[in-house]
Amino acid sequence: MIPEEIKREAEQLVKDLNYHSYRYYVLDSPVIPDQAYDNLYRHLLELEERWNYVLPESPTQRVGAPPADKFKKIAHSQPMLSMKDAFSPDELREFDKGVRRLLKTEEEIDYTVEPKYDGLAIELNYRGGLLAVASTRGDGFVGEDITRNVKTMKAIPLRIAADGQVPDEIDIRGEVYMNLEDFRKLNREREERGESAFANPRNAAAGTVRQLNPAVTASRNLYLVCYGVGTTKGIDFPSQETLIDWLRSSHFPTPAIFTRVRGIDQAVGKVQEIGDRRDSLPFEIDGAVVKVNDFSLQQQLGARTREPRWAIAYKFKAHQAITTIRDIRGSVGRTGVITPYAVFEPVGVGGVTVTRSTLHNWDEIERKDIRIGDTVVIERAGDVIPHVVAVVKEKRTGNERRFPIPETCPACGSMVMREEGAVAVRCVALSCPAQVQEKIIHFASRGGMDIEGLGEKNVALLHSVGLIKRFEDIYRLKKEDLLKLPRFAEKSARNLIDAIERSKRTTLSRFLYAIGIPHVGEYGARLLATRFRGLEELYRVTLVRVLEIKQVGETIGDAVSTFFHDEGNIGTFESLRELGLRIENPDFAPEEKPKGPLAGMTFVITGTLPAPRKEVEELVERHGGHVSSQVSASTDYVIVGENPGSKLAKAEKLEVKTITYTELPGLTGEGKGG
Ligand code: IVH
Repeated sequence: MIPEEIKREAEQLVKDLNYHSYRYYVLDSPVIPDQAYDNLYRHLLELEERWNYVLPESPTQRVGAPPADKFKKIAHSQPMLSMKDAFSPDELREFDKGVRRLLKTEEEIDYTVEPKYDGLAIELNYRGGLLAVASTRGDGFVGEDITRNVKTMKAIPLRIAADGQVPDEIDIRGEVYMNLEDFRKLNREREERGESAFANPRNAAAGTVRQLNPAVTASRNLYLVCYGVGTTKGIDFPSQETLIDWLRSSHFPTPAIFTRVRGIDQAVGKVQEIGDRRDSLPFEIDGAVVKVNDFSLQQQLGARTREPRWAIAYKFKAHQAITTIRDIRGSVGRTGVITPYAVFEPVGVGGVTVTRSTLHNWDEIERKDIRIGDTVVIERAGDVIPHVVAVVKEKRTGNERRFPIPETCPACGSMVMREEGAVAVRCVALSCPAQVQEKIIHFASRGGMDIEGLGEKNVALLHSVGLIKRFEDIYRLKKEDLLKLPRFAEKSARNLIDAIERSKRTTLSRFLYAIGIPHVGEYGARLLATRFRGLEELYRVTLVRVLEIKQVGETIGDAVSTFFHDEGNIGTFESLRELGLRIENPDFAPEEKPKGPLAGMTFVITGTLPAPRKEVEELVERHGGHVSSQVSASTDYVIVGENPGSKLAKAEKLEVKTITYTELPGLTGEGKGG
């Protein structure tokens, strides 16, 4: 029996946490500090674990779903239509004429105007106030079940807030998108890991929503905006405006700009206003949507096969320009990855002069056949960072030059390495000055040690005069050293020294991010900090121990273990400590050690087993074991089924024990004596 007061406490905590997350993610105006939120969250988690009392809308239910093999299909109860496009104010006026002709009225129509978000349409089905199913638009009739992913998106209420009327059932429609800042950050991280970058925020959002592993979705910031409704039971909306009002009062995120106007002229004005604001919005829009406000008029107007007659999308022009490529060069990142970029004949695109752009990776150059001297179409996607859309091949003179994949590092001249199967080209020279500088810039960056004033320019200067060669040197800097340099005066020197001093007190998650372990970004660093009490616990950590963290896979696990086995790295940490660095760890939240007969053991499955793979994995995990995808020396058992693959050969080579499925109960103790 769970005491009533415990239930009440849990309910209150859930309510409070959901409110704060609404303030943070939907209104962008938090009322409590992050730390206070984290404390409440941890308290709730403890309470839920202790009493096994978990509400369906609890924020703890947003994470933790295991990866899936594929998505289930979901039929939409009403088709999700697309929209007719308009490219000029005249076409908007034509649309209005059509509407009035069909409604047989001379009177001005009430329209709503809102931005057209450039993302991915989804539908959220709520039953009894609770989020039941989330699905993609798909072909408009049948989409894919993305419920587990959508639950990780903190802007989406798991329960409809009771401030307004709560319907028995409702299908809410909206667009999932990624903010430009998060998009750029994601691409930077991907490029550093040698993964291909997403071409635009829409692709990034679509790729993230359709992730089979919800942990990946959770690690990227996705947003939602709600702008429509499908089937409803127990609630009726007379108009688009009342729908948006209800959505807003029920804590759903609604369009950043939303107005009701009278007549098409006012609508045209609003559309143009949205166009003017386009470049200052933190996300991408590709147009504005004009809708007939009154739902009964919408009903009268009806739809063609794929498009309603009551809505039209005004499409803005893409920010494009034509220029020529003067040069292609490689830039060396912090982890040694060499990324190609194009240097352009400077050209204005949507009010900004563009001189260069990343070409993402060497395969992309080959695929688009981009050469030095080429005339290209470039596009700036609502953002300062442009990209090459296409080569204008008709303009080729024959003097264009292909740019070969570099064999040596453009910064230090060492031979480069091309990882098998990866698109990245990497300089592995430890002393490569470009990497040293990039590493230090990253170390001092906002998400890292947060040393204000230690950006690109100052790091380049301090590195070039030999004052900073490695992380430790930052903490050995003296004001007098800085004053000898052209860029520093008394005040700027003191500010930098103060900022360095302040950065000495930091958290483990920041520090782990700052030191730049390959494949470990902010999310990975946070994960490590939740499971390791302090830095020393990571010294010479085994792969198995890192893999005990559920969300960590082989790649990150290997990188972390290798990194902390390097005595040079450990030496650096000890020097930093001697120089006064103090690392606290407020994120530490140890998971109960897996218990059971298989605790700490790693299994690998190969071949076809008599039971579904998932079931076998669950069986192993239930008894405290862990299933990994690759055989290594730290694997305890390989479970061998029919037609085993190369994993069996590898197991034999590494002398890893093998067992069959039927031998498994002998290890778990299950099946013995019923
Ligand atoms: S209303 C029938 N409102 O545009 C009405 N759609 O071209 C369709 N979209 O599939 C939905 N912002 O993905 C609506 N404010 C907005 C929108 C919007 C973006 C997308 C949506 C839809 C596509 C139609």
